[in-house]
Amino acid sequence: MAHLLVTGGAGFIGSNFVHHVVAHTDHTVTVLDKLTYAGNEASLAGLPEDRVDLVVGDIADAELVDGLFEKADAVVHYAAESHNDNSLHDPRPFLDTNIIGTYTLLEAARRHDTRLHHISTDEVYGDLELDDPARFTEHTPYNPSSPYSSTKAGSDLLVRAWVRSFGVRATISNCSNNYGPYQHVEKFIPRQITNVLRGIRPKLYGKGENVRDWIHADDHSSAVLTILDKGEIGETYLIGADGEKDNKTVVELILQLMGHSPDAYDHVTDRAGHDLRYAIDSTKLRTELGWSPTYRDFEAGLAATIDWYRANEAWWAPAKDGVEAFYASKGQ
Ligand code: NAD
Ligand code: DAU
Repeated sequence: MAHLLVTGGAGFIGSNFVHHVVAHTDHTVTVLDKLTYAGNEASLAGLPEDRVDLVVGDIADAELVDGLFEKADAVVHYAAESHNDNSLHDPRPFLDTNIIGTYTLLEAARRHDTRLHHISTDEVYGDLELDDPARFTEHTPYNPSSPYSSTKAGSDLLVRAWVRSFGVRATISNCSNNYGPYQHVEKFIPRQITNVLRGIRPKLYGKGENVRDWIHADDHSSAVLTILDKGEIGETYLIGADGEKDNKTVVELILQLMGHSPDAYDHVTDRAGHDLRYAIDSTKLRTELGWSPTYRDFEAGLAATIDWYRANEAWWAPAKDGVEAFYASKGQ
């Protein structure tokens, strides 16, 4: 049994990980989360109080972080500003949290010699052409496009430097696009599902030809737990589930699964600098650590996600109008 500190554990993927840890281990967890617009205490509802507690605070608060590291056997670092569109509008919080916040955690890990796992994204590698047979691997050069992905790339490089220069016991994972319950309605899949539920037509950026490599959040969590248990210090692992789909296909599938005509969507203003395609080769994680995904049927996973949003309007409704007003102001 161990005590884990999970930063960003009230967000989409972090809360999924906390549920996963409670279900599959006997570890206890402290969540450190600032509860920004993206954090939601309700995503942790139902977890046993003797196993999980929530500390509301900022990962860039060195004193708070220091006290929490003192009690933790390991730290899993999810906290971030995570949305590309927001980073194009106001990059500053991305620098504060993704760069300074990660630096603050690394300094605490160094002081306390704490095992740290850093959660990152495939976006650090930039994008691929649609017909490129290559996929991202651990050896692909960093080439981020957006303020969001460049701050995530910066945070990865800080982790690597703290491993090499100070002997911090850290690992990194870079995962592809997650889907599943509890994802904020600003993101592509929940935005379109909740649009349909609200009688609004789904919105596709540009031509909709951009490709994302979808993985269910449960599979991301099982991969992170595997790396925490068996990963080699200083190593990077790519996490993906061979789920490449273009955005047009995903919107059409959502409409079809929700009983609407597959062409009942609008094309809207494209995202500035929009990455064309992400694709992950997760051979290293699968062969060296023995991980594999359990969700192999995207349509079934998407249908279950739609059911979750249908049943949990109280969770997402408070954010919906504000998000749509923001997008409308950008012509999206
Ligand atoms: P999210 O936006 O849903 O959640 C982020 C959480 O971090 C929120 O609970 C928020 O309150 C918290 N937070 C933000 N700033 C903080 C601060 N300064 N101090 C403490 N807490 C703070 O994001 P997500 O989609 O769950 O992503 C989590 C992590 O996974 C991020 O590091 C992201 O880069 C990475 N990631 C996400 C995806 C994806 O598809 N969503 C894919 C790969 C990697
Ligand atoms: O690849 C991993 C990344 O996936 C994570 O690092 C990010 O935190 C996460 O937000 C996600 O980034 P994307 O930018 O790929 O996700 P988003 O859900 O914002 O958009 C997915 C695709 O859908 C992208 O090509 C843009 C497009 N899109 C998005 C929205 C919100 C639309 O066509 N219409 C929309 O309304």
